[in-house]
Parts: sequence; C-alpha cells; structure tokens
Amino acid sequence: MHPFSRTSISNVGIFILMFYLIQFPALCFKCAWPTTTSQNAYKYSPSHACNARHQFPQKQKKTKMNSTRNISIGGTMITTTITNNPTLIDSKIEELKRISNPIIGLDVESKPDVSHGPTPNKASLLQLCNGSICLIIQLSHLPRIPNSLKSFLCQSNVTFVGVGIEADKAKLLADYGVACGKVVELGGLASRVYKKAEYEKYGLADLASKIAGVSVEKPQHVRVGDWSVGTLDEEQIKYATVDAYASFAVGKVLMGVK
Ligand SMILES: *[C@@H]1O[C@H](CO)[C@@H](O)[C@H](O)[C@H]1NC(C)=O
Ligand SMILES: *[C@@H]1O[C@H](CO)[C@@H](O)[C@H](O)[C@H]1NC(C)=O
Ligand SMILES: *[C@@H]1O[C@H](CO)[C@@H](O)[C@H](O)[C@H]1NC(C)=O
Ligand SMILES: *[C@@H]1O[C@H](CO)[C@@H](O)[C@H](O)[C@H]1NC(C)=O
Repeated sequence: MHPFSRTSISNVGIFILMFYLIQFPALCFKCAWPTTTSQNAYKYSPSHACNARHQFPQKQKKTKMNSTRNISIGGTMITTTITNNPTLIDSKIEELKRISNPIIGLDVESKPDVSHGPTPNKASLLQLCNGSICLIIQLSHLPRIPNSLKSFLCQSNVTFVGVGIEADKAKLLADYGVACGKVVELGGLASRVYKKAEYEKYGLADLASKIAGVSVEKPQHVRVGDWSVGTLDEEQIKYATVDAYASFAVGKVLMGVK
C-alpha cells in the first residue's frame, strides 16, 4: 500500500467534509432568511431546492385596509364605511343625522346558526344607510356600543326601514341591549300602499326590484358566510351595503319622500 495515496484520500475526505461544514449552514441560512421578499427572486435563488423542503411561510403582510369604499349599486354611488371604531362611528352617525329625508335603511347580519344550539349567534353587523352613505358597524368587534349610536337609533324623528326589521330590532335589544325607536316593516307597508297582500311575504330583493327598480344580488354563499370575521371580504361588504341601501330605496318610494 502506498502511504502517499492514503494521505491523498483522507485529504480529499477532509476537503469534502470541510466543504459541507461551511456550505450547509450557509444554505440553511439562505433558506430561512431570504435576502429579498420578491417572490420571483426568492423562487430562482440558489437555495430554492432547500427552500422547497423547509417551508418557512412568509409572514402575511398586514395591509391596513381603508375602511371606506365607493360601491356602485345600479348606477348610484354609495360611500360605505365598515368599522368597529367608536370614534369613527360617532363621526359617521353625525353625517347620517344630516339627512334631508329622515329615512334610514337598516339591516342586521348574523352568522348563520348551523348547530341550532340553545344560544343563537349574536348579531354581527348593523348596517345603516341614508341613500348615499352607508355605515356597516361590526357589532361583535365593538369594545362598547357608542352612545351616538344608541341615541341615533332612538330618535323619534328618524324612521328606520327594513325587511324583517322587527326581528332585527328584537335581536339588537336581546344581544346588545340596544333599543330602536321608530321602525317600519317594508313588506307590510308595501302591501298597504299597493293593496297587494302578497307583498307582505316578499323578501327584500323582490320588493327592491318591484318597487324601487333596484336589482339586489344576494349570492347564497355570501348570505350564509361568517359575518363575525374581523376583516370582511369585498363580497360581504357589497352585500351588506346593498341590503341597507335597498331597504332605504324601497322605504323612500313607499313613504313618498322625494
Ligand atoms: C380612506 O379613503 C378616503 C377616501 O379616499 C379618505 O378620505 C380617508 O381618509 C381614508 N381613510 C384612511 C383611514 O386611510
Ligand atoms: C369615493 O368617491 C368620492 C367622490 O367621487 C371621492 O372623493 C373619494 O375619494 C372616493 N373614495 C374612495 C375610498 O374611493
Ligand atoms: C346622506 O348623508 C350625507 C352626509 O351627511 C349627505 O351628504 C347626503 O345628502 C345624505 N343622503 C341623502 C339621500 O339624504
Ligand atoms: C331629530 O331631532 C333631534 C332633536 O330632537 C335633532 O337634533 C335632529 O337633528 C333631528 N333629526 C332630523 C333628521 O331631523
């Protein structure tokens, strides 16, 4: 046996060992702390193979969403605000108060009761709409019910209109101890105004298209969705806005307010 070749082999072995000792932490370092957050650069980086095995999820960027949206409903532009912020609610209630027509569309959304347990889900959202601005209040995320909201709902010179509004009123009282003043059930009013008994049983979508010419899309998957989530998706925001706006629109026609 040649002593020299033996040394050679162990030299090569040590070299390979050293290579891995140096490279391995470097590979893993790259894998765990990508130098760039750009998805493409990340994908084509040399540590891609390592990256595929070790899933280091990039932290979901917390986009601070603007709570105000402009939503077009049949050509009418509605500015809608989604919030659980008492200060913002105070200022929006002030705006809603400055209405020329004392009619406010009101609706409540609750997470559907799938379990049919003894305690129904609390109301998640309260929507108020004056025909050009809507306010979507995330009741279940409110630190407290603002006094501005309580007193607004009790004003005797404002008429709150909706379909199933008596049930909504009862729910607001039961779930949050919030009392509503003057509420008008749109189905009943429509059946009296047009002398059509069937209107009493109509849903909001039918009343809105027959009476106000407003087409209301109410996708089932949105209706039965979770309204108690902290961040509502765009479909939920639109749905909640349309419900309150359509209630206002029907009420306005029925009450003959221009
Ligand atoms: C949201 O957008 C509206 C209109 O573009 C703006 O007036 C308002 O200040 C914005 N709010 C926030 C919290 O950025
Ligand atoms: C909504 O529309 C109004 C008036 O056109 C505009 O001033 C405002 O910036 C818009 N807001 C948003 C959030 O797009
Ligand atoms: C709704 O309230 C806003 C803000 O106070 C006001 O500018 C607007 O005219 C009101 N809309 C109606 C239809 O009264
Ligand atoms: C309703 O009456 C209150 C005072 O009783 C007043 O501050 C408010 O502006 C009135 N609202 C409307 C829409 O007329």
